[in-house]
Amino acid sequence: MERLQKVIAASGVASRRKAEELILAGKVKVNGELCRELGTKVSGDDVIMVNGEILSKEDKVYYLLNKPRGVVSTASDDLNRKTIVDYIDTDKRIYPVGRLDYDTTGLILLTNDGELANLLMHPTNGVEKTYVAKLNKVITSEDIRKLKNGIEIDGIKCIPTRVKLRSKDVEKDKCIVEVTIVEGRNHIIKNVFMKLGYLVDKLTRIKYADLTLDNLKSGEYRSLTIKEVKRLYEETK
Ligand code: URA
Repeated sequence: MERLQKVIAASGVASRRKAEELILAGKVKVNGELCRELGTKVSGDDVIMVNGEILSKEDKVYYLLNKPRGVVSTASDDLNRKTIVDYIDTDKRIYPVGRLDYDTTGLILLTNDGELANLLMHPTNGVEKTYVAKLNKVITSEDIRKLKNGIEIDGIKCIPTRVKLRSKDVEKDKCIVEVTIVEGRNHIIKNVFMKLGYLVDKLTRIKYADLTLDNLKSGEYRSLTIKEVKRLYEETK
């Protein structure tokens, strides 16, 4: 038996907090009866209805994709562009965990497990993401220091947990910097470097929590193992 709000959140229709609000607002029925009790325990045999729709009991699937450049990371696109979901061979309704920009490549997770997706995307859960950024000019040691101390974007400081200058080519005036952050604001890496006066020519996410791209080529994907999914849940505790 599980708590009603947990089961609703796990189905992906709402976060756990939103599920609680729906229950209290009288939008949830269990076996046809209105249920406003947050503590209600339900089993797999109970029929749960949220806003008039029966919750599906789909198997959960988890994929790790090496996103190519020039692909949107939403489940569908108004302009009919190719989306990352098109790369995955599944009949399940999956969606990406967070976003990568159209021109950003690298590691992105897709799942139909709404609870895990919500937990991972919550800013207080502190899941580390590592990016490799190729900059339009060589970064100064003063700017590396500033970056390590944190850069304020829209009034909130982004403080990387790790910064590493991977390489620099003084002749071509280019460099490659590895940055690990825990937050997930849109365009955050580009905005951080922009604030310091650099443009990001190329951006790749190479790590998400302890998951890496390993040998996956651009456009290739694999399923996560049960162990990896468990570890992701543990990351968010
Ligand atoms: N930061 C960015 O600027 N772009 C991404 O795609 C991800 C993080």
